[in-house]
Amino acid sequence: RNFKRQFECRSDIERLNAPFLSIYESLIPTEEEKAKQKQLLTLLEKLVTKEWPEAQLYLYGSCANSFGVSKSDIDVCFAIENADLNKSDVLLKLADILQSDNLQNVQALTRARVPIVKLMDPVTGISCDICINNLLAVENTKLLRDYAQIDVRLQQLAFIVKHWAKSRGVNETYQGTLSSYAYVLMCIHFLQHCKPVILPCLQGMERTYAVTVDNVECAYFDQVEKLRDFGCRNRESIAQLVWAFFNYWAYCHDYTNDVISVRTGRIISKRSKDWTRRIRNDRHLICIEDPFETSHDLGRVVDKYSIKVLREEFKRAAEIMQYDSDPCVTLFEPY
Ligand code: GTP
Ligand code: MG
Repeated sequence: RNFKRQFECRSDIERLNAPFLSIYESLIPTEEEKAKQKQLLTLLEKLVTKEWPEAQLYLYGSCANSFGVSKSDIDVCFAIENADLNKSDVLLKLADILQSDNLQNVQALTRARVPIVKLMDPVTGISCDICINNLLAVENTKLLRDYAQIDVRLQQLAFIVKHWAKSRGVNETYQGTLSSYAYVLMCIHFLQHCKPVILPCLQGMERTYAVTVDNVECAYFDQVEKLRDFGCRNRESIAQLVWAFFNYWAYCHDYTNDVISVRTGRIISKRSKDWTRRIRNDRHLICIEDPFETSHDLGRVVDKYSIKVLREEFKRAAEIMQYDSDPCVTLFEPY
């Protein structure tokens, strides 16, 4: 029902593949940029282990999940096993250490929902956020990276969608629109549903990887090199997928009743999750289940105003993909 197409795909859609692919390619970070990110991580490791020899640093977020476009900031998780540790104290101390090593714009945000230290490295020009013990984010980073290895069309679609969302101003969680992480989950869900399917549901398969983090079990099939041919029965190209993605979110998704769930590879009901009413600030106007923290709705940031903005943007994009003479330009026009 959800993927019933509203209208037939435009007849000249294939013509749009080359321009979409070149946008995708222009967004891929260069090897030089990747090397600079590693260089910054190595510097941070050196500074951190001097003070906390037992600590470890992990990259997470888009610099490690395969969905990072060129010139992104990097996200680092500082992991330390110590039950009595006070996060604010560690962040403040960390900020001190970083500041005295000439890193710039060092700021400890101890009251944020996810407390972090921010910094900019003048040598590489890269900005970085460091959080403490956010190991679930490290796990969801691995899950996304594993999905990305199955079929390159996921990375292509997600780069285009993220680029669109940034250009159109709908990738701003503090303004009630969605995070990059939410958009990537929307892309994975979409490719788990198109016919024939392009992606499997890794959490529904034999468990070859399992860890428990903060009492949450993260388990799934991670031998993704065995799944390289998984989506080959579906020959749709990037332009068709972009068209169908926006068409789905503009006209086919049931915002009243449905939750998208990468964990189950299905659409599940808001009722089954008790996400039918507003509780405090969580309104559940668009529901995207976190694959591991299943009580967590990545759409919780969306409010009654921003849901309209989002749905209008999905419709605008779908219309452009259907009728515009130059979608590769119009789609990304600044709002
Ligand atoms: P860009 O920085 O926009 O390129 O993308 P990003 O994937 O790095 O997104 P962002 O900086 O918003 O988030 C960084 C990472 O934090 C994500 O990739 C997730 O691993 C994690 N994350 C973000 N939001 C949430 C959330 O609401 N819940 C959980 N569990 N993890 C999140
Ligand atoms: Mg990031």
